[in-house]
Amino acid sequence: ETLDPILVAIDGPAGSGKSSVSRAAAEQMDFGILDTGAAYRALAWACRETAVDPDSEPAVLALLDEWIYTISLRGEQRVQVTLPGGTEAHDVSAVIRTPEISAQVSRISKHPDVRVRLNNMFREIVAASGLPGVVIEGRDITTVVAPDAPVRILMTASPEVRATRRAGELVGESHEQVLADIMARDAKDAAVVNFLTPAPGVTLIDTSDMNFGQSIQAVIDTVDEARRAR
Ligand code: DC
Repeated sequence: ETLDPILVAIDGPAGSGKSSVSRAAAEQMDFGILDTGAAYRALAWACRETAVDPDSEPAVLALLDEWIYTISLRGEQRVQVTLPGGTEAHDVSAVIRTPEISAQVSRISKHPDVRVRLNNMFREIVAASGLPGVVIEGRDITTVVAPDAPVRILMTASPEVRATRRAGELVGESHEQVLADIMARDAKDAAVVNFLTPAPGVTLIDTSDMNFGQSIQAVIDTVDEARRAR
């Protein structure tokens, strides 16, 4: 007998705390965590490695037919890609976080059929996880990937707060620069899917005035509430 994992869908913009908070909350609940942005990033990396034009949807779909993508849902988030015709699984965990890749992702994430294929891949990964629960985070999880998830959260923070958090991670970039970058990337990402306003039934968690621990607790409280209501 296989039990469907309890799904916790979390969307939100970069810098909202979504990734780190999702990870920590999943760990505390003994759930797995699926970072869907990593797949979009890994696909952008694979296009670059194989000289596939990211603006060509047929070319990106052909690459999707041939690549092997694996991500671990527990512990360290290892992301691996085997390229078409290749035998070696490349660990791309670090390279997919570089600004060069970040800047390229919207060129592939804009293709509707690419999104459909990745969404099906995400559902398969979750179903095959064998875990009691999985937190799945991205931009369109509450609306498209898992609209029936028992827990759906939109995590936000003001652009200013997000810029301050990002600036803490970056060296040599002014607050204004980081804020401008964040606004530009929001605009690009939001043109693909709306992740800035909660869909009906989605719990809004604004972390602008929360620290890390409070943000984690807000997620866990939301999950507990949904479990009690079941
Ligand atoms: O969350 P992130 O910064 O790792 O996301 C990387 C890129 O992928 C970003 O441009 C938004 C896009 N993305 C998406 O379109 N849909 C998702 N479910 C997750 C990420």
